[in-house]
Amino acid sequence: MSKQVKWVKEDPNNRFVFWPTEEMKKRAWVSDESIYAEAAKDPVAFWAARAREGLDWFQEWTETYQWNPPYFKWFVNGKINASYNALDRHVKSWRKNKAAIIWEPESVDEPSRVLTYNDLYREVNKFANVLKSLGVKKGDRIGIYLPMIPEVQIAMLACARIGAIHSVVFSAFSGESLRSRMEDAEAKVLVTADGYYRRGKVVNLKPNADVGVENTKIEKVIVVKRAGNTVNMVAGRDLWWHELMKKATLYCKPEPMDSEEMLFTLYTSGTTGKPKGIVHNVGGYLTVALWTSKWDFDLHDDDIFWCTADIGWITGHTYACYGPLLNGATILVYEGALNFPEVDRWWEIVEKYGVTIFYTAPTAIRMILRWGEEWPKKHDLSSIRLLGTVGEPINQDAWMWYFNHIGGGRCPVIDTWWQTETGATLINSLPGIGPFIPTVAGRSFPGATHDILDEKGEPLGIGEGGYLVQKSPFAPGMLRGVYKDPERYKTQYWSTYGEKIYYTSDGAIKWDEMGNIRLTGRVDDVMKVAGHRLSTAEVENALTQHTSVAECAVVAAPHDVKGEVPVAFVVLKQGFTSSPELENSLVQQVVKAIGPTAKPAKIILTDALPKTRSGKIMRRILKALVKGETVGDVMTLMNPETVEDLKRKVGYSK
Ligand code: PRX
Repeated sequence: MSKQVKWVKEDPNNRFVFWPTEEMKKRAWVSDESIYAEAAKDPVAFWAARAREGLDWFQEWTETYQWNPPYFKWFVNGKINASYNALDRHVKSWRKNKAAIIWEPESVDEPSRVLTYNDLYREVNKFANVLKSLGVKKGDRIGIYLPMIPEVQIAMLACARIGAIHSVVFSAFSGESLRSRMEDAEAKVLVTADGYYRRGKVVNLKPNADVGVENTKIEKVIVVKRAGNTVNMVAGRDLWWHELMKKATLYCKPEPMDSEEMLFTLYTSGTTGKPKGIVHNVGGYLTVALWTSKWDFDLHDDDIFWCTADIGWITGHTYACYGPLLNGATILVYEGALNFPEVDRWWEIVEKYGVTIFYTAPTAIRMILRWGEEWPKKHDLSSIRLLGTVGEPINQDAWMWYFNHIGGGRCPVIDTWWQTETGATLINSLPGIGPFIPTVAGRSFPGATHDILDEKGEPLGIGEGGYLVQKSPFAPGMLRGVYKDPERYKTQYWSTYGEKIYYTSDGAIKWDEMGNIRLTGRVDDVMKVAGHRLSTAEVENALTQHTSVAECAVVAAPHDVKGEVPVAFVVLKQGFTSSPELENSLVQQVVKAIGPTAKPAKIILTDALPKTRSGKIMRRILKALVKGETVGDVMTLMNPETVEDLKRKVGYSK
């Protein structure tokens, strides 16, 4: 493949613009630009064709799209099952003995596991029968708190098979985080593990799981024996996965689900301290998971697709489980840390299995870049033909480094913009069409319509920055609600510009006439810390639980590698004085309440927080301080003198 680089002279920033080669176009599922116009002419017909062509329905829908703002439905009255589409139809084909999951354990001394489609089908059927034998019924919620081991995909697909709703919780979240999610979901069963490996050490998961089930409706805890560490099994409640599976029968009939019934809920951070359960329904989600996997990543039968995201995030759900499996593809799943035993572990894995599609987050790229190009150079990465990124804006240096040193200058970099709420990618370039522009994600996926509006709701022109929105018909994989909280659904997404426009909470710039979009980051109090979504309010809630804290405010500060990190401004209660021990104890409080991803990078102790005369904390000023931006007028504050003190403490120099 030859490198095709076009220099765009009219671009004031002298940005590179890459286009697909003839070879890429020939191989790609879509290479004709007319797909965009065609889909835009009748998006409902476009999605109907995709749903019909890509999926097996037990019963065809009677109405393709129904819109009662702010609610909408797709494939109304259609009947379908996710597990049937991801497994049964492949098992009936030549793909029966094709690898579905290649699993690489963290320890280099342990053998890998390969599950063919038939293996996965059998395990899923058996586990579905296990769940049934424990009294799980259609509509029941099942918590999944597992590391990256094949049992996670097995458990998810088994839930989908019987119509139970899974709610996966990131295994690095604390027991307390798990508990609040399980309580809200009113889960009946939790699937977890004894432990897992991280940087060569066993992480005990079960004690966290025990905290997670306290005072919830969880009746049974199924424990996968992964690390072999000693765990406490509660009699009558805790059951070993392998013992249950020994007795399970081999076939479980897939439950025909209404297209608009729930497939899963996944908790994510919003602007309040309480995470919300994003609801995804079967028919629409499967349609976008399948087609975005196929078209964005140009996924073919001979590919090995490695999405490095943990299953606890939406990226893991859609691209390390449903999307590729619906396509009958082979996925690679890696248990451990990217730098264990050495910083070239990822490249060793790529070489070992001949990974062809590699999808990761900008944070990881920035980290790898710092370790130096000699690490990827040690390995033959020529199997890779497509690279993807997700989760946060990517800077040009990281994009170019990824393109040159991982992709060898051959591979398109597909920068995919999406959210837990959108269920699947929605803005990115397609590999057979392009262009691929560093820092510019691309166009709306065919059949989706985005716009960039100003504060009043007026559409903006090229080069102007505003707020990203989506318009009807909303892509089929969009959320259908916030679990048990219709008010939050309405206020969060459908109040800024009314009930007919989906508000993303992202800033964006219309890049060019073609419709390419550049994303500039969240405009609310949601942070992206190393690509992980976290609300400042959650960290504040965690800190105020500490006995010493009178008041606090958390804001996101820019970080070279992680993109953003939380910085906490804390006012101590009378009688407490600052000390390194106290600061450490505050940090540990956050780790205990949320998990290590939420660790504040800095705790700034202060006598007071900047407040308006009505007593509201002026977060705008704190944000400006940590970003080194102009603070602006402080005279309206009740206590302007605090700003001077805080400037010294954060090392502000403007
Ligand atoms: O701010 C956007 C950012 O991630 C947010 C969604 O986070 P989450 O629900 O955790 O889903 C992440 C994985 C899909 C968005 O509101 N984001 C995601 N992808 C990109 C991005 N920002 C810029 N460029 C992207 N490619």
